[in-house]
Amino acid sequence: MCGIVGAIAKRNVVPILIEGLKRLEYRGYDSAGVAVVDGKDNGKLQRVRSTGRVAELEKLSQAEHVSGELGIAHTRWATHGVPSEKNAHPHISGGISVVHNGIIENHDELRARLRSQGYVFLSDTDTEVIAHLVHSFYKGGATLFDAVRRTTAELIGAYAIAVVSENDRTHLVVARHGAPLLLGLGEGENFAASDASALIQVTQKIVYLEDGDCAEVKLDRVTIVNAKGDVVERPVHISQLSASAVELGNYTHYMQKEIFEQPMAVANTLEMVTSAQSVSPQLFGAEAGRIFSDIDSVLILACGTSYNAGMVARYWLEGVAGIPCSVEIASEYRYRESVPHPRTLVITVSQSGETADTLAALQYAKSLGLLYSLSICNVPESALVRASDLRFLTRAGPEIGVASTKAFTTQLAALILLTMVLAKLRGRLTTERETELLHQMRHLPTALANVLHVEPQIKMWAEKFATRHHALFLGRGIHWPIAMEGALKLKEISYIHAEAYAAGELKHGPLALVDKHMPVVAIAPKDALLEKLKSNLQEVRARGGELHVLADQDTKLTDAEGLHVIRMPDHAGILSPILHTIPLQLLAYHAALERGNYVDKPRNLAKSVTVE
Ligand code: F6R
Repeated sequence: MCGIVGAIAKRNVVPILIEGLKRLEYRGYDSAGVAVVDGKDNGKLQRVRSTGRVAELEKLSQAEHVSGELGIAHTRWATHGVPSEKNAHPHISGGISVVHNGIIENHDELRARLRSQGYVFLSDTDTEVIAHLVHSFYKGGATLFDAVRRTTAELIGAYAIAVVSENDRTHLVVARHGAPLLLGLGEGENFAASDASALIQVTQKIVYLEDGDCAEVKLDRVTIVNAKGDVVERPVHISQLSASAVELGNYTHYMQKEIFEQPMAVANTLEMVTSAQSVSPQLFGAEAGRIFSDIDSVLILACGTSYNAGMVARYWLEGVAGIPCSVEIASEYRYRESVPHPRTLVITVSQSGETADTLAALQYAKSLGLLYSLSICNVPESALVRASDLRFLTRAGPEIGVASTKAFTTQLAALILLTMVLAKLRGRLTTERETELLHQMRHLPTALANVLHVEPQIKMWAEKFATRHHALFLGRGIHWPIAMEGALKLKEISYIHAEAYAAGELKHGPLALVDKHMPVVAIAPKDALLEKLKSNLQEVRARGGELHVLADQDTKLTDAEGLHVIRMPDHAGILSPILHTIPLQLLAYHAALERGNYVDKPRNLAKSVTVE
């Protein structure tokens, strides 16, 4: 999704801005641009924009000798107006240049007003109204800072913006409301960005802006004013991101790297319990003991893959901890009239912690009077973490591939821990069962590493899948959401239409789709539903459907005409959904490669969906 970088220094900032954009590329974008106040030419704005990759923008800026000590840059993921050079940011209005993440909802009425004042619009974007609005106040005598403040007072919607003026080379101005933005503090130079990873190469000192903040960023200091207009200090954080964590190393794609990092990512996430004899609520925050004892139900809010993790957790939370649990797609919940129950723990699950719908759903839940919130998230200091009473940080490391992989399995690891803690508090976890589960969790990284060995067999399946237009994924019970995750992965990176069904639902409709052209994937662990699942698989075979089954060792399912079986190396009891995810990720990855797709940046998608 859109990314912002801004810099002021006593050196040419173009390489800093371009490097920052490269580090944000993983979020997905369709155009990019940079604007700097020219160091040599009387402070004139120089701008280059491109609908290609950031590397192309870099070449263009070198060819056009763009350089300056103050500048802003942007990667755009189109919302208003097609991806094109004219719609790419930065936008300019009479010496003012602006980059923007988010959506301005009242852009039509602002555009009409600005047109009546004589402003001419050159793009189809909502952002251009911001540039003209700032300019209209600035030319009326306001300072750049005041012009930005007066502008933001008129904006309805979500935004993070960075603004420079060619008439004022001493600072840039940034503001945020509903979209992430932070400052980076250097030695005699300062920066701004939408994500700390964009600044790894220049500073680790990060100041997260709050909603409503507007900041003036100078060479030697930053001044932050809050929504009320008071000058405020915000804490300085030392970013733990390391440049090597976001490098590809020996892998060809980030998705491949992230699939193979899962044993380590899960081990890191569970590190605090690896040597423990028992679990405790403190894993989720100092207040967790009190809050967990007061709740009588759980509501999980999330999107996409994180929603699928929530769906798995429902089986654990109700089946093991005996606590009523509902799971809702955040974008639906936020607009649905629901019956609030104050003693519900609202759990948001998110890789990025910045997903606009999940954030809004949490705020909506709070507005309904739900008292307690917990965020399960991969990004410390993200908006969801900061907005929640309790938190559990998955320690997957930066996830760069747009298709979520290690974030999902680490979310599941966090959710099983939560299940154990709640089960214990509710008297539903014996000491023997706790010890047994902790043992299984300690073994999980090894079990994950073993499953990765099925890759050559999966690759053979993927070669066939790549030639098909549709695929069906089946699972029962707790493995139904894993089938959903398998279908989501396949469609988003291979562009093969895939659907997931609870296998028992097959004969209520989707069985009509099954013929010899329809590959069907079934997840068949040795659990209480295995015999039921086998009957469902017979229904598929009887209709000529080609079955691809992920089976545990002792399921007595073997290869036959139209039946392809991969044996899972380990049976992991209630942790089985975590293991069964791996072959499905590999299937999607290899099918996408076979089809020649750009796996890390699937078309039309973005990492971290910060707009509604
Ligand atoms: C799919 C995928 C998305 C995200 C969703 C939520 O592979 O990555 O479906 O899971 O956009 O994102 P987070 O987890 O950052 O809230």
